[in-house]
Amino acid sequence: MNSVDQIKPPDLASPRFKANPYPFYARLRAEAPVYRTTVPVPHRQPAWLVTRYGDVLTVLKDDRFANDWSPKMLWLLRWGFAKALMGNMVSRDPPDHTRLRTLVQKAFTPRRIERLRERIQSVCDDLLDAAAPNGRMELVRGYALPFPVTIIADLLGIPPQDRLRFQSWTGSIVESSSGSATDVLRALPNIWFFLRYLRKLFAQRRAEPQDDLVTALVQAEEAGDRLNEDELLAIVFLLLVAGYESTVSLIASGTLALIQDPEQRNRFEQNPALAESAIEELLRYTSPLDISTPRLMREEVRIGSVTIPPGELVLAVLGSANHDESQFPDPETLDLTREPNQHLAFGQGAHFCLGASLASLEGQIALTTLFRRFPNLRLAEAPESLHWRKGLFLRGLEQLPVSF
Ligand code: HEM
Repeated sequence: MNSVDQIKPPDLASPRFKANPYPFYARLRAEAPVYRTTVPVPHRQPAWLVTRYGDVLTVLKDDRFANDWSPKMLWLLRWGFAKALMGNMVSRDPPDHTRLRTLVQKAFTPRRIERLRERIQSVCDDLLDAAAPNGRMELVRGYALPFPVTIIADLLGIPPQDRLRFQSWTGSIVESSSGSATDVLRALPNIWFFLRYLRKLFAQRRAEPQDDLVTALVQAEEAGDRLNEDELLAIVFLLLVAGYESTVSLIASGTLALIQDPEQRNRFEQNPALAESAIEELLRYTSPLDISTPRLMREEVRIGSVTIPPGELVLAVLGSANHDESQFPDPETLDLTREPNQHLAFGQGAHFCLGASLASLEGQIALTTLFRRFPNLRLAEAPESLHWRKGLFLRGLEQLPVSF
């Protein structure tokens, strides 16, 4: 029996695995860098995990690894709403992807993001003001979650009274990636409510344009081309889900990492100019999107000594690439001034995160404000009692009780 056969596959979507996936990833990088296992998404099926930095780059940049994996989802696509989810640009390839991305980028401009800076700061301040008198809070619910939800909803132009509903809709949709039948079933009505709500919103913005992203998307035009209704649904849905679930994780996991490393925390608190590079390092170290969206092999590809046949699913393990010792000296050490730091937390290539600059800005403001405001910030419970969220792709804390 060779060493690959001896590796016992863990449940990759389980909270226990997510608590610390790094020893398993290190073992795969050393012994089985292209490793075939079973994943729960879209239902139990084989997939290849690619774990070394250089190979992850290949998966993300080489167009033989297609993003459109709908051929694996035909059973699901019979439902119209699933088409709306699958039709987003992460799961498209050129030329479709290029067309969609160009149209969305027209609306998602750096100017629009930079204009948000003050708003981001005031949302952080308000949340911390509300928490301050209590001396403790559950940081995910009290800060990390409501903050990016407010910002992305502001950006899109979703009225404040509707925002709590979004949280419950998107939360259950993300959890359905655990693959459990109950979670998938629970997500179905939420998807339906969500899409119905968005259709109404588009109609309103067409009739009465506002200065918001939904209006900009409804109006976006490139050489006479526009987004159709299904494309709009898919994009807004993607922005809402991608636009905050991973940011929540960055803020909560980033806070935990700083609390657990007093020396780095001290540097962070003493030197505000460090914020930008600190967030890059926290992105690398915590890798909020642990595993990329799936790629489908268009043709046979050989990576190292392994040949992946056409038609199979491949997952680029970003969290592993970001802890690859051949790319990052002492990868398990948090070093806020790490240089160079070519992490892959935002992916790479054609699908590189569209919201990367917004996410970094949010991370910088959220964490500098939190540690400045509460210099005594500490865990309110033992680290062993922390729970991680289930789900294949994201890695984030369920709860983070802190006192200050
Ligand atoms: C810490 C926060 C974030 C992380 C770690 C993150 C990570 C990623 C990654 C790794 C990808 C590529 C996935 C792949 O290739 O399979 C991606 C794509 C994407 N992200 Fe983010 N993201 C974050 C925040 C955001 C925000 C705030 C937005 C928007 C408001 C956003 C919008 C998108 C979109 C639209 C795509 C698809 C791009 C395409 O397919 O061309 N993300 N993100």
